[in-house]
Amino acid sequence: MHILITGGAGFIGSHVVRHFVNRYPDYRITNLDALTYAGNLENLRDIASKPNYRFVKADITDAGAIHELFEEGRFDGVIHLAAESHVDRSISNPTEFVMTNVVGTVNLLNAARAAWNGAYEGKLFYHISTDEVYGTLEQGTGIFTEETPYDPHSPYSASKASSDHFVRAYYDTYGLPAVISNCSNNYGSYQFPEKLIPLFINNIRNRKPLPVYGKGENVRDWLWVVDHASAIDVIYHNAKHGETYNIGGHNEWKNIDLIRLLCSIMDRKLGRKEGESAELITYVTDRAGHDLRYAIDSGKLQRELGWTPSLQFEEGLEKTVDWYLENPEWLERVTSGTYQHYYEEQYRGR
Ligand code: NAD
Ligand code: DAU
Repeated sequence: MHILITGGAGFIGSHVVRHFVNRYPDYRITNLDALTYAGNLENLRDIASKPNYRFVKADITDAGAIHELFEEGRFDGVIHLAAESHVDRSISNPTEFVMTNVVGTVNLLNAARAAWNGAYEGKLFYHISTDEVYGTLEQGTGIFTEETPYDPHSPYSASKASSDHFVRAYYDTYGLPAVISNCSNNYGSYQFPEKLIPLFINNIRNRKPLPVYGKGENVRDWLWVVDHASAIDVIYHNAKHGETYNIGGHNEWKNIDLIRLLCSIMDRKLGRKEGESAELITYVTDRAGHDLRYAIDSGKLQRELGWTPSLQFEEGLEKTVDWYLENPEWLERVTSGTYQHYYEEQYRGR
């Protein structure tokens, strides 16, 4: 079994690569990543020299390079995570999101279709998507199911919705074996410190302001990234082709409540007096088009494929804080940009 994982140098992708490389030593795993600002091969140091793993630097917007890789790789499956993933960046540069998330996904679909050439037995194109395609919910009522109509609001979620539609269109039109999952907000180790939790952990460490958008009333549904990786494994191996599965932890938090909990954990871990970190909270201008609330029903995945999350949020947040505090050099290399030289240092001359 040879699986191509795209975006494996990113936050979730690195957890998925680690999971598959360690759990399935008889599978070959190829990690394709363009190493944008969000790609960091240092995330995979612990498995980089495993015999069933290799890294290929390539850009999914480069159709020619992707076709060549599929010809050479003879992949049985694709787990597609490569994407521009940050909503704020999509507001300032939407076109980049269309290129990677839409055009890049279509390039992969075309390459898989050409390489498999109708011989679809044992093949699967698994597209990783987001709950943001469903739009937004009222405070305290409603939940996203697989039947919720798409209603994306940000350029990021519009690009992910579009890529989901293309994956379904290739299943319906060409019979390309495909599956999609839509997951809620992930948290955990190796997340780029532009996203809420690692950004705020880093700012608290450095006694910098914590920029809370609007009134901090927005609600997100949080899932430990390791549990997302295990869900992806279950779906990859057991899903019915053509289906969509929602993934989430039934774990809604209002931003301000989460931030106050995080501040209190950080005070305790850093030996600061209770309330010290919360003084860094600064209310700033709201994100444009800010979705009020996400909540996801992962009942189908639980009922049909037997997946359940392993960790309660409070425990997961403690573990996450511990990881960032125990790995200050990772945070420093990421925030200073030094991590971007790692690929040349490790792969020069290969
Ligand atoms: P990330 O930004 O941490 O990582 C994205 C990876 O994709 C990086 O390694 C980057 O180098 C790579 N990449 C970007 N453009 C590329 C291109 N043109 N060619 C090849 N590689 C490219 O993202 P993440 O948070 O790990 O998200 C991974 C996937 O999961 C995305 O598809 C995202 O939409 C989805 N998702 C994320 C979350 C979340 O909470 N972070 C939740 C649900 C779904
Ligand atoms: O729901 C899944 C999505 O979750 C994924 O598809 C995206 O890739 C991922 O980035 C994430 O999107 P969010 O926009 O929800 O995540 P972010 O960490 O950017 O923000 C979480 C909440 O915190 C959101 O309501 C905005 C708010 N926020 C965020 C930042 C970075 C702040 O108040 N201040 C901040 O500085």
